[in-house]
Amino acid sequence: MGNSVFVAGTDTGVGKTLVSAALVRRLVRSGRSVGVMKPVETGVDAALPDQSDAVRLLAAAQVDDSLDLVSPYRFHLPLAPLSAASAEGQEIDQDIIVDRYKQLAARHACLVVEGAGGLLVPMGRDWDLRDLISRLRLPVVLVGRVGLGGINHALLALEALDRRNIPVVALVLNETQAHCGVVQQEQQASTMALLRERVSVPVLGPLLYQTCADGAWPEAVKEAADSPAISHLSEMVVRMVAGRP
Ligand SMILES: Nc1ncnc2c1ncn2[C@@H]1O[C@H](COP(=O)(O)OP(=O)(O)OP(=O)(O)O)[C@@H](O)[C@H]1O
Ligand SMILES: [Mg+2]
Repeated sequence: MGNSVFVAGTDTGVGKTLVSAALVRRLVRSGRSVGVMKPVETGVDAALPDQSDAVRLLAAAQVDDSLDLVSPYRFHLPLAPLSAASAEGQEIDQDIIVDRYKQLAARHACLVVEGAGGLLVPMGRDWDLRDLISRLRLPVVLVGRVGLGGINHALLALEALDRRNIPVVALVLNETQAHCGVVQQEQQASTMALLRERVSVPVLGPLLYQTCADGAWPEAVKEAADSPAISHLSEMVVRMVAGRP
């Protein structure tokens, strides 16, 4: 369905927005029209609008699509989407997301869609994020932590995608915390090496920790866009988009 990728995470807070924004910047730099979508966002703080994922993605893409089109479901409470929606007396309608997705995909040569939380996070009473990815029929860029615990989370997420035959463009491993100790470096090296041995998808990274990412977000996105991991990822996405009818 279109020339899009779905950026999913092994968990919440693993760096989906940073990877998505950096990928978008890189694609835009190469002259492409790139749209963005964050279908559902929770924990939206009206006092800090610039820190919302959807606003960050729109800034990276520099498009004038409306926030309502790009991010139809926005909730204040920092809960799982189903709970955040229920607390506000709302339901997330998959058909509305698909409709907005189609509008955006028709406007842009390429579209980067960011998920919410991890793959099995409940979105509606009888559907979760993975169901939405299946319905959109999009290939996934999976983002996970390169630190301790990253191997298990990545393998579980890849298994969940494989069970639904959802194609994976790449697994991007991200350094989500500032570490410079020898132990952490060994943990990262073992995560990269063991995952490269065990999975059949390309394993990219580690995407290095950017100091003050939240204090200087555009700079962190630029640094990430210049990284080998995102450079490689954007080449894969460009090849994939070029190869589709
Ligand atoms: N490589 C990195 N360097 C520095 N900070 C990072 C890095 N990756 C992620 N972070 C920080 O970690 C936090 C979570 O990252 P991010 O918002 O990209 O995660 P996410 O997977 O999009 O989370 P969500 O599930 O809320 O959408 C943010 O504060 C972000 O700035
Ligand atoms: Mg995010």
